[in-house]
Amino acid sequence: MFKSLFRKKTIAQILSQKETDALHDGGMKKILGVRDLTLMGVAAVIGAGIFSTIGGAAFNGGPGVIYLFLITAVTCGFTAMCYAEFSSRVPVSGSAYTYSYVAFGEVIAWIIGWALILEYAIGNIVVAVSWSAYFNNLMQGMGIHLPAWLVTDPSTAKAAFLTAVKNGQEVSDLAYSTAPMIGSFKLIMNVPACIIVLLISVLVYVGIKESKRSANFMVIFKIVILLFIIGIGIFYINTDNWTPFMPNGFSGILKGVSAVFYAYIGFDAISTTAEECKDPQRDLPRGMIYSLLICTVIYVVVTLVITGMVNYREFENVSDPLAFVFDKIGQSKIGYIISFSAVIAATSVILVFQIGQPRIWMSMSRDGLLPKRFASLHPKYKTPAFATIVAGLIVAIPALFVEPTIVTDLTSIGTLFAFVLVCGGILMLPKEKEKSTKFRVPYVSSKWIMPIIFLAFIYLFYHRISDTVFEFAKSSNQDKLFLIYCLLALIITVSSIFKEHSLIPVLGMLCCMYLMIEIPPKSWGVFFIWMGLGLVIYFLYSRRNSKLNKIKE
Ligand code: ALA
Repeated sequence: MFKSLFRKKTIAQILSQKETDALHDGGMKKILGVRDLTLMGVAAVIGAGIFSTIGGAAFNGGPGVIYLFLITAVTCGFTAMCYAEFSSRVPVSGSAYTYSYVAFGEVIAWIIGWALILEYAIGNIVVAVSWSAYFNNLMQGMGIHLPAWLVTDPSTAKAAFLTAVKNGQEVSDLAYSTAPMIGSFKLIMNVPACIIVLLISVLVYVGIKESKRSANFMVIFKIVILLFIIGIGIFYINTDNWTPFMPNGFSGILKGVSAVFYAYIGFDAISTTAEECKDPQRDLPRGMIYSLLICTVIYVVVTLVITGMVNYREFENVSDPLAFVFDKIGQSKIGYIISFSAVIAATSVILVFQIGQPRIWMSMSRDGLLPKRFASLHPKYKTPAFATIVAGLIVAIPALFVEPTIVTDLTSIGTLFAFVLVCGGILMLPKEKEKSTKFRVPYVSSKWIMPIIFLAFIYLFYHRISDTVFEFAKSSNQDKLFLIYCLLALIITVSSIFKEHSLIPVLGMLCCMYLMIEIPPKSWGVFFIWMGLGLVIYFLYSRRNSKLNKIKE
């Protein structure tokens, strides 16, 4: 039983299954090149993060939050290299799910596939809600006022109502006051968030070519607007606002981990289009790394500009930071342009994620872990039609009711978890006998470097470690997680000394794990429940229906 949980697929098996499937249904359309992939990466990355969630991170960390952007970029860079090697060795659509099947075996692959739902589907709920908020701003700018109860979720509406009551503000026009009643239930729902997901799903259903063209157009548009914002904002920078640069120290900066990491999520999504690439082994690695570089430069510059224009203290509870800073300097017309580009940016993220989710399910279904229908291609459009519809509904319906902050943390944990396994997976891959011409993570031995890094880490965090050890009962859950992290880092360091692991994947794992433990423990609880649910489904359905199971019989 234990052995069968970790049964693996070989790279040769996966590639030959892909050929067989292609003979059967004609395969997918191979139309994506390196430019498309880079643009698609940027399309997936720049969205709700920079336009919405970054406000809170700037409030807690001050201008120094750029360090977090850089640390996160380096972490994502390590991971992108591991993704790139995998996508070059196993060029099929399942992304981290397929890679784990090769490296760790079935049950871990399933767990990753299940965690990726957090990244793509659940992550897209946040983007859809952000889309709706900016769309509503735009409508209001044009004098169109949608009923408040149709553009928010019940929890946010209730919180806004209670805050207004507490502050003695007018409440008669709030969603919570104006919502129609169905029995004792207040009907409050975010209709634009739902509609945009459904519309995008139609586009994704109709074809990768149409999706590619739309993504390319949207990316160019949002980059031009961001450059425009930077170009104007630079003239309004007051360098006094950059002092102090890290007003709440490093711990203040770290409060933004989830928001900043969220802003980077998506560069890996392009690996789900491996079967639609002209030359996936050459272009996927390049596309990922180029898009990451472009986004990092944009994020760092935008953050410097907005924290230079307005003092970091003013970002408290600001959910539209870019529009906010221009409002503050009396340029609200620019705020209107920003709202428009935020709508476009969020649309492109929704698009790429809605492309990614069905393709992962398609791979899981090919392996027998999900019902066959998830792998069926539309006879004309050659897209995974059924999986696309399910992905649309799974995002669109919760987008009506779910409060976005709950799911941002969950999305970040789920994605980081997948990243840890992708980095770890590279260490598990069989060594190649011959030198490959395709992308490989450059090998630097971790034998001596890891112990040095580990000792430096212990030196830097000595007080936190000793306080947690000696006051374990009193220490916070976050500190307990930190202690577990230190133990894992020690194990990985010892293993590096003996096995001379490749340094980049090791650093990728450690950095991702570190970002994970800085996410509030209450989100970890939800994460474990989610993963537990996934395992139940695995044991009830997927394990029995796995193709590898049938081979054994
Ligand atoms: N990185 C994506 C965004 O910020 C998820 O919207």
